[in-house]
Amino acid sequence: MKLTIIGSGYVGLTTGACFAEVGHHVCCVDNDPRKVETLLAGQIPIYEPGLEALVKKNVAARRLRFTTSTEEGVDHGEVIFIAVPTPPQPDGSVDLTYMEKVAREIAQYLDSYRVVVDKSTVPVKTGERVGQTIRRYARPGVEFDVVSNPEFLREGSAVADLMKPDRIVIGGNTDRAIALMQKVYEPFAAPVLVTDINSAELIKHAANSFLALKISYANALSEICEASGADVLKVAEGIGADKRIGRDFLNAGLGYGGSCFPKDIAAFIAIAEQLGTPFTLLKEVQRINQRQLDRFVDAIREALWVLKDKKLAVWGLAFKPNTDDVRSSVAIALVQKLVAEGAEVVAYDPKAMDKARELPVAGKIKFAGSPLEAAAGAEALIIATEWPEFASVDLSDLRATMLAPMIFDGRNLIDPVAAADFGFQYRGIGRGVVEARA
Ligand code: UDX
Repeated sequence: MKLTIIGSGYVGLTTGACFAEVGHHVCCVDNDPRKVETLLAGQIPIYEPGLEALVKKNVAARRLRFTTSTEEGVDHGEVIFIAVPTPPQPDGSVDLTYMEKVAREIAQYLDSYRVVVDKSTVPVKTGERVGQTIRRYARPGVEFDVVSNPEFLREGSAVADLMKPDRIVIGGNTDRAIALMQKVYEPFAAPVLVTDINSAELIKHAANSFLALKISYANALSEICEASGADVLKVAEGIGADKRIGRDFLNAGLGYGGSCFPKDIAAFIAIAEQLGTPFTLLKEVQRINQRQLDRFVDAIREALWVLKDKKLAVWGLAFKPNTDDVRSSVAIALVQKLVAEGAEVVAYDPKAMDKARELPVAGKIKFAGSPLEAAAGAEALIIATEWPEFASVDLSDLRATMLAPMIFDGRNLIDPVAAADFGFQYRGIGRGVVEARA
């Protein structure tokens, strides 16, 4: 099929590449000429495992192309996906300026039937607005349908998530549009759920909010575990073994970050408020998330007595492993807090240091070339992102290079018993303090 994606950001680019990989002919549109040039030169502006190879392969096979022209895109695709940014406004509600602009642009070039798909994460009822806008600006009588088709991809496994989805949600109001969308997804052989447009839009916010709720539930439990001497990992395992609950997203830690959860939870709260049905449970989810970081910094301060002039090693800056993304990263928020209290931070991250160097806090910290280099002479080690390579650092080398043997493990990555055996005082999340044995 001929498909068009408008917006070549994270979602648009990955979706376009995966559609091309299954045999569709995909035209990706972006209004940033520099981005299009970079993509045409075979370079990918983001770090996402497997994506670069997929883009190169499909560009070479002439199934994937890039352009700045919306006209070319509307002309090409029988189905046109809108994957533009939907950034948050100061009050948490979603800024739909780009959606509206793209809807007008599509309308301008529409001359035969097209399905226009909301791929971006949008508030419920946005599809209705997109439809009204296209109708208002398009030539009289021209036919089109609007569909909502939310994405559920995670950074770091975006290609795998797209190629083997748990489910495809298609929200449409006409058989014609739904049939075309089913054809688009046929090669993926995934379960398809067909709904009305509003339900599909709601599914996206409801899914992300539920996952955030699970994380906050685990984090709230971690506080109770600390107070009672229980181990949150065991509790998570015990409840997660119940199929109705499931073990995923029950990892207590420093809380959720990234470009989706904080924004989507705030947006869902704002949407519910606007609909006159306040979702106060989600405010508690946010509060617990914030509290988790505050509690961690309190614990570090309590253990070290004063933070001013303390040399602290921080492992991890990305908002989670396997990505270079530092947007709304809790690791960055943590570093900011430590620096604000006068600590000297030396940070290391396997992939996110270039992006972190662009942040204002970069001028106030040092960057190291390896985990052990960051830890050299440190008075405490703080683990902020659970990169697998941190778990395999030799604890005896680590002990030898640090000035004082303390580990604050914000992601429960290291085995507390092993750490204690190598002479560290270890503090994880929701599992108490383990004193050094050696
Ligand atoms: C998320 C959703 O998973 C995805 O379906 C949606 O399309 C976009 O938002 P992403 O932001 O890439 O994806 O990351 P995810 O793996 O979901 O993690 C989000 C945050 O939650 C990270 O900061 C992670 O560290 C944190 N997290 C996750 C926990 O603290 N505990 C967990 O158990 C799981």
